[in-house]
Amino acid sequence: MTSQTTVKTLLILGASGDLTGRLLLPGLARLVATGRAKGLKLVGAGSDPWSPDEWRDRVHSTFAEAGKHDAAGAKALAAVERDTAYHQLDVTADGPLASLLAELEGPVAVYFALPPHISQKACEVLHPGQVPEGTRLVMEKPFGSSEESARELNRTLLTLVPEDHIHRVDHFLGKATVLNILGLRFANNFLEPVWNREHIAKVEIIFDEDLALEGRARYYDGAGALRDMIQSHLLQVMALMAIEPPATLGERDLRDAVAAVLRASSIKAPYKTSTRRARYTAGSIDGRQVIDYVKEEGVDSGRNTETLAEVQVDIDNWRWKGVPFILRSGKALGDQRKEAVVTFRPVPHLPKGFSGVDSPNQLRIGFGPDTLELDVDVNGPGDIFSLDRATLNAQLNASDLLPYGEVLEGVLTGDPLLSVRGDTAEDCWRIVEPVLKAWSRDTVPLEEYDAGSSGPARWSGSVPAAQ
Ligand code: BG6
Repeated sequence: MTSQTTVKTLLILGASGDLTGRLLLPGLARLVATGRAKGLKLVGAGSDPWSPDEWRDRVHSTFAEAGKHDAAGAKALAAVERDTAYHQLDVTADGPLASLLAELEGPVAVYFALPPHISQKACEVLHPGQVPEGTRLVMEKPFGSSEESARELNRTLLTLVPEDHIHRVDHFLGKATVLNILGLRFANNFLEPVWNREHIAKVEIIFDEDLALEGRARYYDGAGALRDMIQSHLLQVMALMAIEPPATLGERDLRDAVAAVLRASSIKAPYKTSTRRARYTAGSIDGRQVIDYVKEEGVDSGRNTETLAEVQVDIDNWRWKGVPFILRSGKALGDQRKEAVVTFRPVPHLPKGFSGVDSPNQLRIGFGPDTLELDVDVNGPGDIFSLDRATLNAQLNASDLLPYGEVLEGVLTGDPLLSVRGDTAEDCWRIVEPVLKAWSRDTVPLEEYDAGSSGPARWSGSVPAAQ
């Protein structure tokens, strides 16, 4: 990526909110400190009546941390901090946001760090003529709440700016480990010939978190694990695992390849077989007591929100037909398992005379710690004709940016490579929507698991075997 920013002003809407403090400012700070956002102006806007000093304090506390051990970085951060401004604004009213946009030095990137319905309203009240040329619109997840609403939101956005100026954020696309999938797959000739249905039995993408609700009931209870993690992040990771080799890492080539995989993907009925869902009850994780999900403040037990979801996605194309892609994510699990696991088919014939265990080889890509592990069967030890399992390990390289920093760099340099394209955003809803409907009709039982366990006992911590 280039380091030339095309954006002059980053306007964060929802500047006083949690996302800005927890993720956006730290991501931006690292980017600024590494000298990759030279001359950028940062403007915050929010509905809270913050004084300029309150906003500057918020920026300062994050920036000071990022510049602690780096004098040049601290200087770059101080420059952004000095010029930053805060505006109290009702973005859903017709007028104020447009007036602010007209005042700011362009091109401006408008980051909607707001609840989705407010972002949508804010876009609806903007008129095309009020959005200066070159403006970039940055939308947080969830992008819509169904295929139809995502399409509607896309329509609204496209009246304001062209598609390549819309950045639908999925911070997993900014995770170094996820991007490492591309290098691993396309820079190693030994992998490509076996990366298909002939040699791969199943692919699992697992993101089991030990975090519980963490006070996020207002958002999470209306979302659940399937919408929160699988509809967005894990489908993106799956697509990178499954894409055809792109000619370049340009946004057009890569995003076309991702879109082609997702277009071929679906979760097939009967959903009782292809999906499972569960909700945690009280338990303890590393000595930390966790209460029943339904007793958490703000949770409505009648909503039957799942905190653990697992689905089998089928990719109906030449390369992947018949290979199950199992996507699973959950909260309050005892074991933080965050990895993509590729299980290869067994050898067609093991020469007679070998003893010991010959189990299918697995390749595992760990998402934090960022690792690569390849299981191979080897001879010995001791009896040289007895097989044993060895694991080749590599540490994957980290990025000097945080995931939000990677994504923001794309926004500021005008490269939508790490942003979700409009058609893909709609497709991800198309894939999960039938499941959401089936679950809302209780076609699939909502199971329970103790917080701190590895999921419902019946699941026994493993995903269904490949067919
Ligand atoms: C967020 C989800 O998008 O991703 C959270 O809303 C989840 O529920 C988080 O915990 C996981 O991402 P990370 O980068 O914090 O591991």
